[in-house]
Amino acid sequence: MTLPRILLIAGSAREGALSVRLRDAARLEVDAAGAHTDVLDLRALDLPLYDGDLEAREGRPAGAQRLRDGLAEADGVLLVTPEYNGFPTPLVINAFDWLSRVPADGDRPAGLAATANKPLALLSSSPGAWGGQRALGLMRQYLGGAFHMLVLPQQLALAKAHESFDDAGAFKDARSKHAVADIAKRLVALAARL
Ligand SMILES: Cc1cc2nc3c(=O)[nH]c(=O)nc-3n(C[C@H](O)[C@H](O)[C@H](O)COP(=O)(O)O)c2cc1C
Repeated sequence: MTLPRILLIAGSAREGALSVRLRDAARLEVDAAGAHTDVLDLRALDLPLYDGDLEAREGRPAGAQRLRDGLAEADGVLLVTPEYNGFPTPLVINAFDWLSRVPADGDRPAGLAATANKPLALLSSSPGAWGGQRALGLMRQYLGGAFHMLVLPQQLALAKAHESFDDAGAFKDARSKHAVADIAKRLVALAARL
């Protein structure tokens, strides 16, 4: 049986990013749930800030097409967002805005077709007490609404994320680990079914 492919994305790429630590800890749980995992680094896409004049002049950047390809090949997605002033980060919103502008190309789908009806698990992380909860709600609206992703009802906002991992990157708190493992299992099961 072929394992479902799950694409993992973090909404920050800075060195030591808490969202990357959570993404990597979540990856182990997704692997354990019986999926093949891939990581997509949004910074490596090297996307300029979306600009309609730039698009008219130069078309869509190669990075936007790489994001489309990564999503098209995935059976499901796990995304970890940080929170900036109550919002998801510009890194993640800008990448998906560019994605929405990518047209179909041969047998490769348009950006919006690559996300439609694709299972999505959402996590957030923050050193604060709410764990990025506000950004989670907005990501649910953005990716479930405009991008027609099938967002799992279960989600996790990891509060005090700077204290949540040991030196090896494992969860210190069994409750967080179990919550992520449960989300991972649900995501993989839905991705396998669809
Ligand atoms: C511009 C900016 C705005 C922020 N706003 C919030 C916020 O609204 N809520 C929150 O919990 N943390 C906020 N923070 C703190 C971030 O959660 C913290 O810097 C976190 O480590 C960023 O995610 P990362 O570690 O994945 O890069 C903000 C940080 C920045 C730089």
